[in-house]
Amino acid sequence: MQNKRYPCPGFPHLIHGADYNPEQWIDDKSIWDRDMELMQLANCNEMSVGIFSWSMLEPREGEYDFTFLDEIIDKIHNNGGKVILATPSGARPHWMADKYPEVLRVVDAGRRNGFGGRHNHCFTSPVYREKVRQMNTLLAQRYGNHPAVIAWHISNEYSGECHCPMCKKAFRDFLREKFHGDIKELNRAYWTTFWSHTYDSFEQIDPPSPSAEMGIHGLNLDWHRFVTHQTMDFIKNEVAPIREHSPNLPVTINMMYEFYDLNYHKVADVIDFASWDSYPEWHNGDDALIAQQTAFWHDLYRCLKQKPFLLMESTPSGVNWKPYNKPKKPGMDVLSSLQAVAHGSDSVQYFQWRKSRGSSEKFHGAVVGHDGTGDTRVFRSVQETGRILKQIDQIAGTVTDAKVAVIFDWENMWALDDCQGYANATKKYFNTCYEYHRAFWQSGIDCDVISPTADLSRYKIVVAPMLYVVDTAAAQNLTRFTENGGILYGTYTLGTVDGNDLCHLGGIPGCGLKEVFGILAEEIDVLYPNEKQHASLNGKVYELVDYCETIHLRGAKALATYSDGYYAGTPAVTLNAYGKGYALYQACRDTGDMKDQLMEQLLQMAGISANVDSALPHGVTAHSRTDGERTYLFVENYSGTEAAAVKLKGKMENMLTGETEDTCSLAPYGFCIYRTI
Ligand code: GLA
Ligand code: ZN
Repeated sequence: MQNKRYPCPGFPHLIHGADYNPEQWIDDKSIWDRDMELMQLANCNEMSVGIFSWSMLEPREGEYDFTFLDEIIDKIHNNGGKVILATPSGARPHWMADKYPEVLRVVDAGRRNGFGGRHNHCFTSPVYREKVRQMNTLLAQRYGNHPAVIAWHISNEYSGECHCPMCKKAFRDFLREKFHGDIKELNRAYWTTFWSHTYDSFEQIDPPSPSAEMGIHGLNLDWHRFVTHQTMDFIKNEVAPIREHSPNLPVTINMMYEFYDLNYHKVADVIDFASWDSYPEWHNGDDALIAQQTAFWHDLYRCLKQKPFLLMESTPSGVNWKPYNKPKKPGMDVLSSLQAVAHGSDSVQYFQWRKSRGSSEKFHGAVVGHDGTGDTRVFRSVQETGRILKQIDQIAGTVTDAKVAVIFDWENMWALDDCQGYANATKKYFNTCYEYHRAFWQSGIDCDVISPTADLSRYKIVVAPMLYVVDTAAAQNLTRFTENGGILYGTYTLGTVDGNDLCHLGGIPGCGLKEVFGILAEEIDVLYPNEKQHASLNGKVYELVDYCETIHLRGAKALATYSDGYYAGTPAVTLNAYGKGYALYQACRDTGDMKDQLMEQLLQMAGISANVDSALPHGVTAHSRTDGERTYLFVENYSGTEAAAVKLKGKMENMLTGETEDTCSLAPYGFCIYRTI
């Protein structure tokens, strides 16, 4: 049976488009007509509009004017294109800040910001919520049934926090609910007898601030949770009129990497499909590494809803906000665009369609530059991507059937960053997650990136790198997974604190995980940057850096032992049979090879093979999607200098040439796309 899940069910195709801000060119509408011609030429079938249009749509309070949007949506429609329509709350008109200063954000020192920038508003302000609700109601009523509109793009990259009196009150209410109105319960959870910081009432609680309290880790964690909660509440307010007046169209928000303020695993609950804005720093070092780290995020965004996502923004050349804004080299734009599709995106979209003439983004990459023609290297590359997407349109809606997963958790990131232990310079939570993901990527194995409470039943191997925060729900999930036959891979720092950031007592990994792993962790030796230790695994010695945890066997057997230091001869890696499954514990940080070796063993135990039939050269990878009947295979080469040949698992049809092949030949920055015959 075919299994296809479209992000935008009204348009079951691969989407090729861009953020389009035609209001910037309202004084010369011949540009709009030229844009329509160029969109066809670029093989684009979609534009995202209205993202920062509020002052056009409501130039004065209560005076709405939709003529520009009417005209542009109809133009795109008549040109054969589709529209993803944004709500404009990412930036407000000046009049609103002037008349209602409460909509302006307050920074943590208590100072209210002036007008300007983006997302410079209070997410609690009833005035701002009401203004957004009115605007979204009108948009949904007017365009909810327009044949061109296929989805709603809610606001733009929500982020940040506000410390105004209304937000403080909402935070206190949030805590009151969490702690059942009992301040003693909060004091216990926050361990406030430390330094005599006991609260007498919820009214005394302020958000963490460098000029006041930053030392209560439970409070810090709850503040992060509150910011996510309050932003979600704001999104629900945005989405309510859209659900009412445009019930058939899906909604998304465009997300970005790990945007520190928001736990996207939670935010995903209030949207229908995920979308994200990807801006890797190509060519700054090894492109293979950059590709793999980008793949990590594609994999995470796909897993937010366990279905295809949209690549909402990417630059066809360079950006304007990095230390060095280098354009992509020839070949990289097409390759990196298709990388997103390989990992489950049903779109390739750019920021921006046309370069603005002034202001801060005038030099940001765009499909159409200041020359205004289609006669550029960048435009031709976009054209080529569009041509390819048409050829592989059958892939739209297909899913990824990963058998392995890496856990990434926002709460864990916040708590680890907060913790004053180990070594601040070497905690490297992201990097550690990337490294375990890399072990799969470089072998050509599809991998999910998930939260600790995700449904694990579909996986054979789950890796939980540095999962320092483990609460009962996460522990039960991991335990059940292992009991039922899964292979769980944990590392140093696992299960050190609970969901209130209180240390687990009675030995770690806490919450029952020491039984699952059959070990007891005692202490972590923190290595200085120039210090190295070693461990031997299967007779081979591996280099260790940063962290060596000393552990005791409590049922597990040692796979590797430390070779030097005061813990020489003690276990460095262990394996424990638990229920129908296994739990592997890596107590030390290695520089790569040891992980690869361990992963190879686990993949064999789990009977998981790669998407292709040969070992992959450095920088080459292979990913797959499926409709339940056919497999679609993407083989990608991130080396800009070396060609490569890869043996396929039998004969497949090359979707771009129609040829049947059993070996894939890749040029530098080349790729091939196949389907099973
Ligand atoms: C973000 C925003 C866009 C634009 C790009 C520039 O992703 O959503 O509006 O500013 O960055 O790279
Ligand atoms: Zn506020």
